[in-house]
Amino acid sequence: MSFDLAKLEADATAEVQEIKDLESLEALRVKYLGRRGIISEAISGLSQLSAEERPRQGAQLNNLKNTLNDLIQKKTEELKNTLVTGTAKDLFDITMPGVSQDLGNIHPITLVIDEICSIFVSMGFHIVEGPEIETEFNNFSALNIPLEHPSRDVFDTFYINSPAVDGQKLLLRSHTSPVQIRAMKIRKPPLAIIVPGKVFRPDAVDASHSFMFHQIEGFLVDKEVRFSDLKGLLYLFAQQVFSATKIGGGQDIKMRFRPHFFPFTEPSAEVDICCIICKGEGCSVCGRKGWLEILGAGMIHPNVFKAVGYDPKKFTGLAFGMGIERIAMLKYGINDIRLFFENDLRFLKQF
Ligand code: DAH
Repeated sequence: MSFDLAKLEADATAEVQEIKDLESLEALRVKYLGRRGIISEAISGLSQLSAEERPRQGAQLNNLKNTLNDLIQKKTEELKNTLVTGTAKDLFDITMPGVSQDLGNIHPITLVIDEICSIFVSMGFHIVEGPEIETEFNNFSALNIPLEHPSRDVFDTFYINSPAVDGQKLLLRSHTSPVQIRAMKIRKPPLAIIVPGKVFRPDAVDASHSFMFHQIEGFLVDKEVRFSDLKGLLYLFAQQVFSATKIGGGQDIKMRFRPHFFPFTEPSAEVDICCIICKGEGCSVCGRKGWLEILGAGMIHPNVFKAVGYDPKKFTGLAFGMGIERIAMLKYGINDIRLFFENDLRFLKQF
């Protein structure tokens, strides 16, 4: 058996010349140089040749193998270069704009939650979360809001149409304060905790109300916690959140505590900052008052301690709660709460 090696070389060379892409070139390589390729077949056929013929044909086959290898190698380089310079019609044009990958960004509410949490974490607070479905006891009774108390109206919510659990009706929490109860029941003081989360109220939706919004609750319990601790803590917090904003512009953020009533704290206060827009002069954002309410706060009521089994003679505590949307609106100069929930990318992409 003998091969017409000259013809084999001529055929292979002609075929390589025709090739236009790397895939076909690889197929051609397999055809000639693969394990079952033409050259391998020829090499295994050598055994049938006479002893004198065998080495001669063997050497020639080897030469051919090397020649084809070089040829294919050269063609590979050539094709790769064509790809880069983009001259071949059927290949891609590298001057075309690429397919860009759109990157998402963090929702402004999440941004503000993260910022507030990190401020309190830097002061030694722990982050704790609680369920959005709560018991009537945790949302109301344990927080010193008895069944018939008028302040239940302020914290009214959506009840869940399901059988009571351990004699307790279930509802969507109307504030993050019930997590005080959950956390204090399983921990002993000293503790300092912040609780970010969603809350729900049966409010009609308008520019400043939503049936769902976000709050951050904070509380600290120890021996001899004082109202002055609360003031100092919230003052530091306000400086960090508002002073760094574009609107705040590094100003000293003045703060005032207005006496107020919350069932779960005594004494209680609403906390205002000097309007960061008009610097106290009075403008449309602060309703000409020169002050902006940012949160509620106070000293934890002894009845709340009793509900979780803490001795109110031994421990005192401070607590505060704020609406995230409100803080975000002030911080970024947003005038409609609905923008946060409409998922309009023109709005969301600005953060
Ligand atoms: N839970 C209150 C609300 O939703 C906010 C609040 C006020 C929380 C005073 C507190 C507090 O812990 O001490 O309006």
